[in-house]
Amino acid sequence: MNVFVAPMQGLTDAAWRSIHAGVYGAADAYFSPFLRVENGMVRAKELRDITSPLNKNIRLIPQAIFRSVDELKIIAEAVSGAGYHSLDLNLGCPFPPQLNRGRGAAIVARPEVMELVAQCDFGLDLSVKMRPGVTSYDEWKTIMPILNSMKLNHVTIHPRLAIHGYKGPVNMECFAEMTDSIRHKIVYNGGIYSPLQIDTYNNIYGVMVGRGLIARPSMIEEWRSKEVWGIQRRISHLRLVLERLLQQYSETMCGDLQIIRHVQAFVEYVDPDFPPRIMKQLRKSQSIRAFEKALHEFK
Ligand SMILES: Cc1cc2nc3c(=O)[nH]c(=O)nc-3n(C[C@H](O)[C@H](O)[C@H](O)COP(=O)(O)O)c2cc1C
Repeated sequence: MNVFVAPMQGLTDAAWRSIHAGVYGAADAYFSPFLRVENGMVRAKELRDITSPLNKNIRLIPQAIFRSVDELKIIAEAVSGAGYHSLDLNLGCPFPPQLNRGRGAAIVARPEVMELVAQCDFGLDLSVKMRPGVTSYDEWKTIMPILNSMKLNHVTIHPRLAIHGYKGPVNMECFAEMTDSIRHKIVYNGGIYSPLQIDTYNNIYGVMVGRGLIARPSMIEEWRSKEVWGIQRRISHLRLVLERLLQQYSETMCGDLQIIRHVQAFVEYVDPDFPPRIMKQLRKSQSIRAFEKALHEFK
């Protein structure tokens, strides 16, 4: 079974991916945060993320968010031009700025867009990451025959409605129903926080782990080696990750606060088992020095 890393804007960027792979061993694939079109071009910052040399030791699959086949063509061309052969299509984003413009999960209810996509040859292996719908668990039913007519490497399902964002229970009944209707290989995504949980999905093509992996970055390695890491080992490795992030971001960003805020985004998700006093110091640090001081206590 494959264990993939979910795309997460602001978290799973090139720096984090390379550090994760270096410290814990690479996942089967990492999906990039979505690439989008702005003023007729792929946003430069997002393109830099997939062309960074930091990606050289991992398998990276870029992801596209789009509202029309024309937008998708622009992204596909840029992705091919960067030397990639695969592209993941985002049919799940719940953020209003994207959703309200007909992108992400909104595409599930816009079969006319997917019909055009299905007729194009982008010269890339496509996969889809989707939700069942925006407001109803039935929305996917219209688009499914189109997805089934396409050549797709796999379909990742995050069984929550877009209106629920990333909170609340996942709907496993809906996941089972979708799985029965899809002729492609299935990847499950949503709420996996421990290596043991990964095993519950061993009859499908793969799982995709997101926030659970930021909380416990050793999760894939623990699952592979069938060895649960003790808290001390997890803490010492996490410290290494945070130190390397700090170093990487210091090379590419300006200003203490910008660098610190970026690293603190990871701390927000970290395992609640970790020492609360130090976690609090890391969260509250206003300078690199204060953050490093807190890290030194984190043994
Ligand atoms: C901060 C944040 C950013 C995200 N960015 C993306 C994205 O760029 N593309 C995407 O398909 N999903 C994105 N997601 C959704 C995740 O890939 C994943 O589907 C979601 O977090 C549920 O999985 P999890 O419970 O394992 O975290 C994002 C989620 C979060 C919390």
